[in-house]
Amino acid sequence: MKVGLWYNSFMNLIDGKALAAKMQAELKVKVDKLKEAGSVPGLAVILVGKDPASQIYVRNKARQATAIGLNSSVVRLPETVSEKELLELIEQYNQSEQWHGILVQLPLPKHISEEKVLLAIDPEKDVDGFHPMNMGRLWSGNPLMIPSTPAGIMEMFREYNVELSGKRAVVIGRSNIVGKPMAQLLMMADATVTIAHSRTKNLRELTKEADILVVAIGRDRMIKADDVKDGAVVIDVGMNRDEDGKLHGDVDFDEVKEVASLITPVPGGVGPMTITMLMEQTVRAATRKMNENSN
Ligand code: GUN
Repeated sequence: MKVGLWYNSFMNLIDGKALAAKMQAELKVKVDKLKEAGSVPGLAVILVGKDPASQIYVRNKARQATAIGLNSSVVRLPETVSEKELLELIEQYNQSEQWHGILVQLPLPKHISEEKVLLAIDPEKDVDGFHPMNMGRLWSGNPLMIPSTPAGIMEMFREYNVELSGKRAVVIGRSNIVGKPMAQLLMMADATVTIAHSRTKNLRELTKEADILVVAIGRDRMIKADDVKDGAVVIDVGMNRDEDGKLHGDVDFDEVKEVASLITPVPGGVGPMTITMLMEQTVRAATRKMNENSN
């Protein structure tokens, strides 16, 4: 097995933090080139309300955007903003040449329809890949924008030369953000995919057969060594805080690292890749726009 990142050559760890840093450096070069050619890629982030986790995510997204040289804007709207006002703001960003990526942080307050909001974002600028058109394009095998978490996981597979073709993959979790797009990306890479979820019976029978196991179910350290096939590649999307405020995944890392051939830690695995992929999609959107304009 060839491992692309030197500091990880002797371990079975997938170092998401290091891979994200490498990709950020590469993105910065691309951004500099776009700027030289007269286009500054722009990412507009909209946050409604004061959800503490969302505030942290949004801050991190804006920070990373600035670090790689993107033009970034964060609009913080009060919890009481009307759906109409939010939709109007999105439309302004849709129309503006300055912004190539638009992202509305979820969840939204109850009086605002998430469906309407996601539908309102121009699919070409929908860097989250949550617009039904982007979801449909992904499922029909012709993706435009891909949700960042599964996109980041695919980058990890590439970097660590994980063979997917013909392999048995099990995805635990069926969300639109992670589970479903992850399953489709694995299928497009010729894996044989099973989607499991909280109601799946005899889960262990499935996970024990998985060459590739992606866990996104939101239960602290639920997957144990006994659930995992020897030599499996294990990807942990979970982020659970215990009573002491310590972060854990959905996989019991200390146990499972003894049986997995490759495993992502939490923190430092999937998380750092997610934001970087968002930046990548923004840069890609800006590049596409520039190429369109020069044709
Ligand atoms: N809330 C939790 N994860 C995400 C994400 O990936 N994108 C957006 N927009 N909101 C989120």
